[in-house]
Amino acid sequence: MRIVIPGGTGQVGTVLDRALTAAGHDVVVLTRHPKRDRDVRWDGETLGPWTAAIDGADVVINLAGRSVSCRYTPTNLQAMMDSRVNSTWIVGEAIASAARPPRVWLQMSTATIYAHRFDAPNDEATGVLGGTEPGVPRYWAYSVRIATNWEREQEQAKTPSTRKVALRAAMVMSPDRGGVFDVLSWMARLGLGGPVAGGAQYVSWIHDSDFVRAVEFLVARDDLAGPVNLAAPAPLPQRDFMRALRTAWGVPVGLPATAWMAELGALALRSDTELLLKSRRVVPGRLLEAGFTFDHPAWPEAAADLVRRAREARPRTTARGRFPSSK
Ligand SMILES: NC(=O)c1ccc[n+]([C@@H]2O[C@H](COP(=O)([O-])OP(=O)(O)OC[C@H]3O[C@@H](n4cnc5c(N)ncnc54)[C@H](OP(=O)(O)O)[C@@H]3O)[C@@H](O)[C@H]2O)c1
Repeated sequence: MRIVIPGGTGQVGTVLDRALTAAGHDVVVLTRHPKRDRDVRWDGETLGPWTAAIDGADVVINLAGRSVSCRYTPTNLQAMMDSRVNSTWIVGEAIASAARPPRVWLQMSTATIYAHRFDAPNDEATGVLGGTEPGVPRYWAYSVRIATNWEREQEQAKTPSTRKVALRAAMVMSPDRGGVFDVLSWMARLGLGGPVAGGAQYVSWIHDSDFVRAVEFLVARDDLAGPVNLAAPAPLPQRDFMRALRTAWGVPVGLPATAWMAELGALALRSDTELLLKSRRVVPGRLLEAGFTFDHPAWPEAAADLVRRAREARPRTTARGRFPSSK
């Protein structure tokens, strides 16, 4: 198949590009900074020669959006919103004007669309959307608004020959440098991987190979459209999540952190505490109902697999420094 991935140069795009290319597909990446032969330049907001890549493609998987790993200042929040809404709109326009529109358009969304809650898991049918929870910082509602506007843009696109699926993805865990698993591993190995603010908040996650398999499943299943949760079936409290990660790395202790310590840490990392403190309890209702099975349903095993791959891919490291593998 010809598969076009707008915004495919980032963490998730790297995972998909690698797997889909290895499976023999012809993958084209739309990027603002083309470097490789199969990169095509676009700006994420206006039509241009790039639309030729969409015309005649089988599948479009739009991942474009300003990174959420930043301080949630008004300027950054606006950029997070605009880059997602505008790029989704323009992908819809390109599909609508294609002579041979793609069969399916998978549009990235996020598990963050659901409410901050502890009491019950969110599936697509009974889950509660966020934005009105009491006792959480007001700006958290803005992240939910980004997600709902993002999905609405795809829903409203007039693309009658193209099936549309919104991917409500949890954190995609891959061993690649700079991804979320790498950052959490780095913290765990420095002894900082303890509970944050009590650690009762749920962490939803998905192993990268299950993420790719779920994408392939959704491409193949013509009967599935609309929002689909891409998360392993067993989200777990942050303290248990980090304990399992520490075990996988063989690190015995993880210092606990209070909410204000997390705030300092986030400031130092130029990130935001919402990523650590919001309880994301999201389960894959529709995928399971449709018969999808997870190769990595439980976090302790998934973490062990990811640690093994990280160790294979890179020279060994310790919390105090990097040193070459003794092999
Ligand atoms: N990582 C996760 O676990 C996860 C989980 C759930 C949802 N998501 C969502 O999935 C998408 C991909 O995630 P990711 O982790 O791969 O993100 P990422 O590493 O930040 O990559 C996103 C890509 O979007 C492009 N982009 C950034 N700003 C843009 C703009 N203003 N206009 C057009 N394109 C822009 C960039 O490509 P160029 O610079 O090459 O143009 C970038 O490589 C994001 O929207 C993210 O919110 C991610």
